[in-house]
Amino acid sequence: MSALFSRKADGRLKLALGLAGAAVALALGGAMFYWRSPFGTGQFHPVVQPIQFDHRHHVRDDQIDCRYCHASVERAPSAGIPATEVCLSCHSQIWNKSPLLDRVRASWFEGRPIRWLRIHRLPDFVYFNHAIHVNKGVGCVECHGRVDRMAAVEQVQPLNMGWCLDCHRNPAPRLRPIEEITSTTWRPPADRAAFGAELMKRYSVHARVSCTTCHR
Ligand code: HEC
Ligand code: HEC
Ligand code: HEC
Ligand code: HEC
Ligand code: HEC
Repeated sequence: MSALFSRKADGRLKLALGLAGAAVALALGGAMFYWRSPFGTGQFHPVVQPIQFDHRHHVRDDQIDCRYCHASVERAPSAGIPATEVCLSCHSQIWNKSPLLDRVRASWFEGRPIRWLRIHRLPDFVYFNHAIHVNKGVGCVECHGRVDRMAAVEQVQPLNMGWCLDCHRNPAPRLRPIEEITSTTWRPPADRAAFGAELMKRYSVHARVSCTTCHR
């Protein structure tokens, strides 16, 4: 029986198929690599805000509690971004001539909110809630890092499903007393395991891994 393709053509076809297969594998591998890398997760991207707001000065130097500005963090799904009035509660008094605050004053006089750019953002199909975490003893630092050391806030955690689940499987070692929720310098006692177990009981915390916890 005569072959449909010559031996040479057959060889070329095999080579072409082989190459196509390799290209697909490479593209998939590349995509997986990208999505798991900080480029894909949005970590460590500096964002240029309309005003150079510096958490180091406000949190570290002036010891202003996070909740003064992110006022709904204990009560609502969203932490909230402060309105211009909140800035002016201090800056109508201090630094009230500084050009760094021109945009804050303009926002107030024109009655237009400051357009802060969003840094952390989960996809719409994921349910997240700040109040639940904060009231069960998960501190801001666990998810946002040391903002008191950041000239501009960056996303330091990947915020992907694996990261959420990693804590949800065993939150004990990541808990703290709720009085310390906004502290950036709190340290756990030496026996963190026993302390974590004690807090799990105190706040009645359980492992939450069912899909409907976060996809409702
Ligand atoms: C004096 C007010 C003020 C205080 C105090 C403050 N913040 Fe902020 N925070 C802001 C403003 C304004 C923004 C938006 C501009 C920016 O990203 O820097 C912001 C942004 C953030 C963001 C990024 C939000 C996003 O877009 O994803 C995080 C996270 C954050 N703050 C955490 C904290 C934590 C944690 C503390 C306490 C340790 C804190 N902040 C204290 C005013 C404040
Ligand atoms: C509770 C008082 C308080 C509030 C509220 C407050 N600030 Fe400040 N801010 C200060 C103080 C004090 C300084 C002086 C910083 C220093 O040198 O320690 C300052 C400094 C600044 C500066 C210049 C210094 C720098 O490099 O950061 C800017 C810009 C600024 N604040 C923006 C804002 C904005 C925007 C808001 C509202 C989201 C805000 N502040 C809310 C107290 C406050
Ligand atoms: C368990 C992790 C976790 C903890 C704890 C946490 N955050 Fe967040 N935060 C997130 C995630 C995830 C987002 C993005 C939410 C979204 O896209 O819906 C976010 C977003 C924010 C934002 C942007 C505005 C908003 O509400 O979406 C601010 C401001 C913020 N967090 C401040 C805080 C402060 C202050 C604390 C502590 C009192 C805190 N966060 C504790 C995970 C956390
Ligand atoms: C550092 C630990 C930690 C991280 C990270 C974390 N969580 Fe949680 N989460 C908790 C704890 C603790 C609870 C409270 C569990 C309880 O009440 O038994 C909780 C509760 C929740 C709840 C409410 C569950 C319920 O049924 O009451 C949701 C929704 C949730 N987390 C979503 C998320 C999502 C989405 C992420 C990732 C973006 C995330 N969490 C990251 C520790 C964490
Ligand atoms: C603690 C919170 C949490 C739980 C529990 C959880 N997910 Fe997710 N899931 C997320 C977050 C956050 C994302 C978006 C970020 C990402 O892509 O990883 C996500 C993304 C996804 C996606 C989109 C594809 C992808 O990987 O990006 C699918 C599908 C999914 N989850 C299915 C599930 C299933 C099935 C379960 C139960 C076995 C589950 N999830 C449990 C938080 C959770």
